[in-house]
Amino acid sequence: MRKDEKFKLERRPRRLRKSPAIRSLVQETEIDVQDLVMPFFVIDGGGQPEIIESMPGQCRLGISHLQNKCEEVFGLGIQAIALFPVLNPSLKNGEGSDALSENTLILRAIKAVKEAVPELMVITDIALDPYTNHGHDGVLNTEKTDVDNDRTLGFLAQMAILNAEAGVDFVAPSDMMDGRVAVIRSSLDEAGYEDTGILSYSAKFASAYYGPFREAIGSSLPTCKQLFDKQTYQLNPANRREARMESLLDEEEGADILMVKPAGPYLDIIRELRNNTDLPIASFQVSGEYAQIYAAAKVGWLDLNKTRDESLIAIKRAGSDMIFTYFAAEVARDLKRNR
Ligand code: PBG
Repeated sequence: MRKDEKFKLERRPRRLRKSPAIRSLVQETEIDVQDLVMPFFVIDGGGQPEIIESMPGQCRLGISHLQNKCEEVFGLGIQAIALFPVLNPSLKNGEGSDALSENTLILRAIKAVKEAVPELMVITDIALDPYTNHGHDGVLNTEKTDVDNDRTLGFLAQMAILNAEAGVDFVAPSDMMDGRVAVIRSSLDEAGYEDTGILSYSAKFASAYYGPFREAIGSSLPTCKQLFDKQTYQLNPANRREARMESLLDEEEGADILMVKPAGPYLDIIRELRNNTDLPIASFQVSGEYAQIYAAAKVGWLDLNKTRDESLIAIKRAGSDMIFTYFAAEVARDLKRNR
């Protein structure tokens, strides 16, 4: 073959990749700051932010630090935050009763954020795991062999009403009990909170990727002697049909937004839902996905920012409208800088 010989190829798709200009013109998916939801951990007291070892860059924040952070991320263009309370262990018990206290941390945090940045959307988890000394998302049956589904529903409904009263925009049931969306919806409506939305963690898997989060909120403390794991309520990672069925049930029960969690290892589930519902889809890039990228970057095996951006574009490409990610603030900062 001669050095300058050319083949007559019918298609040359590489033409669309020749220059930065053409690559950007044909780019199909983009991460926008408006797609990102920033999770925050809140603690009581006015002390310094507490570093979370397993989640580099993330801290447990007292309420006034939380207010500052919210102003900061809103200034970067982030439209929504998800709040997770970290309770003093002395407040935890078998029934998670602090969740129903009118003065519980999360309610004070919601009010404080709304006072500081009224336009910032606030989403709170509805589940008992921050409040129970066994770390489960609900209350237990009398034999302590499982979570009591229907008794838990009553707690969730009351929690949702208290959170709505405090001014939350969306409640996010993350407990995976049967019937929770319907019960929460009708309870909110009866209490006059028909405008409070439900973002349902509709396809939440029993995942090992939640490890760092459980350390962050103390739901895996040695004191949380779990008698059984969460597999009786969270989905089996092997099951796609069941994830679709669960999510469509939540839609029927009145969910406004569906969620897939974790995100990166479950891209097929995100796409499955995208193809089967017209509701918006949220995905949660969870603590373990975040920690993995950080850990590999720390030893120099991955480029932190490039891997971060690629992980998020993949989640968006799979069909997510919004992404909960601990990277939100940093990504927003970079997007602003590069604009
Ligand atoms: C609790 C809840 C969990 C997460 C969000 N809400 C953990 C769990 O189910 O044990 C995980 C978030 C993360 O890992 O980043 N219902």
